[in-house]
Amino acid sequence: MIDLRSDTVTRPTPEMYDAMMRAPIGDDVLGDDPTVRMLEDQMAMMFGFDFALFCPSGTMTNQIALALQSGSLEEIICHRDSHIHQYEVGGAAYHSRSSICALDGDRGKLTADQIESAINPDDVHKPKTVLVALENSTNKGGGDIYQFEEILKIKQVCDNHRLKLHLDGARLFNALAGRHESLKDFGQVFDSISICLSKGLGAPVGSVLLTTRDHILKAKRYRKVFGGGMRQAGILAAAGLYALENHVQRLQEDYVFAKSLEELLSQQAYVEAILPVKTNIVIFDLVRSVEPQRLVDHLKARDILCLAIGPHSIRFVTHLDVTIDNLGQIESALREFRV
Ligand SMILES: Cc1ncc(COP(=O)(O)O)c(C=O)c1O
Repeated sequence: MIDLRSDTVTRPTPEMYDAMMRAPIGDDVLGDDPTVRMLEDQMAMMFGFDFALFCPSGTMTNQIALALQSGSLEEIICHRDSHIHQYEVGGAAYHSRSSICALDGDRGKLTADQIESAINPDDVHKPKTVLVALENSTNKGGGDIYQFEEILKIKQVCDNHRLKLHLDGARLFNALAGRHESLKDFGQVFDSISICLSKGLGAPVGSVLLTTRDHILKAKRYRKVFGGGMRQAGILAAAGLYALENHVQRLQEDYVFAKSLEELLSQQAYVEAILPVKTNIVIFDLVRSVEPQRLVDHLKARDILCLAIGPHSIRFVTHLDVTIDNLGQIESALREFRV
């Protein structure tokens, strides 16, 4: 199967399994798993943060960040399509009792001006705006990425209004592939960052929350109450460490493959529009007369999996377990499709 449904479908490579089996482990809830410590220390250092916390999922790292930096009678500004707003079960209300101000914007991105206009006045009728959450790269926005200059402008707005700034960087490593900004540039701007190890980086489980020293104890408490305290978690952290060492450089290949898919799709008459590819996600619309599920089923019959994500749209995602060598098979399958 050529599985283009998501970059979350990757399986550990034999070398990653080997690293997991060899990892020294302890009990991380008791604080003595050396491999988890190593992963947390390394991530904190890479981003120039005081502190990192290994968690089971990106949903948990995002939700801990929201809980640390917002609460009742307070509001978070984020994009309407953001994972935090769309796919975390209304967690801000459930865990933190904070409200969401969801804004529209090009491909999952917000601008500094938009954010500034959305900050609530000091008015008893309104929740107090305390946090802005960005996503980079954007998932529903088809893997689009922010210009760093815009992020700096957003940071300025946050500083002017004493707001905290969180980054859902589930795919930050994809966003940075081939770009000149460094992890530390991002570390300097954001008050908290969530990084997923189990997407483009290819680990089976795990996300890391980067935040400041004053949040250490509280962040650990939130992880515990969310049910995310793990025992011999070093087995999983070892996969993350292996991924950081071996799977970051290759993300550029996922981008090149995604660009080739974009090119291939642009040659098919039944493809009406394609969101310009910026990272490893390709979202395209079919002409109105064709049901996306028909193309999904046609490809599945030829051992190619992908997702219909809207009334006209389909998504392909490139990752560690597919390669540009699959392009020929995908090309034949796309050409065989009859509308
Ligand atoms: C942008 C973004 N943030 C957060 C998450 C949540 O990650 P998890 O599935 O590990 O909870 C995802 C998952 O796809 C995502 O795409």
